Amino acid sequence: MALKLKVNSVVSTVDVLPDTPLLWVLRDVLDLKGSKYGCGMGVCGACTVLLDGVPTRSCVTNVGSVEGAAITTIEGLSPDGMHPVQVAWEQLDVPQCGYCQAGQIMAASALLAHTPHPTDAQIDSAMSGNLCRCGTYVRIRKAIHQAASAGHKAMAGTPGAATYGE
Ligand code: FES
Ligand code: FES
Repeated sequence: MALKLKVNSVVSTVDVLPDTPLLWVLRDVLDLKGSKYGCGMGVCGACTVLLDGVPTRSCVTNVGSVEGAAITTIEGLSPDGMHPVQVAWEQLDVPQCGYCQAGQIMAASALLAHTPHPTDAQIDSAMSGNLCRCGTYVRIRKAIHQAASAGHKAMAGTPGAATYGE
């Protein structure tokens, strides 16, 4: 079945069953491998993408339900890898093995798009669904604070996204 998907501002037609998990389509059909498969059950966050700016588990989202939505993956978060969250992540050397990090960054960017200067509690709450078996949580929190104070505009793929640090 032909479905039209808008991923990272590009509209593509994919020929898949509507109940195929979005993650499968992103990785295997559109060759966007940044979003990772962790649990496949919606509990680890490794597959997090943004749907109209909202962090969403792509492993448990049927592709047929997202036609017409703006889908943003880690590949489309910024044109050059310079989204403030990505910059802070690199500056603070956040990742360890890296497997969970695309999902972490997508969740963090969505948080900052709507909550420009989050408290520790807001960060912990927003990020609680993104698990890291390497335990990088302290650096993640620090990097979110750093991105928040960096003074850049949010680029989380959210229509009408707030700016932060201004
Ligand atoms: S792989 Fe989707 S939540 Fe774990
Ligand atoms: S950096 Fe290894 S799982 Fe998070």
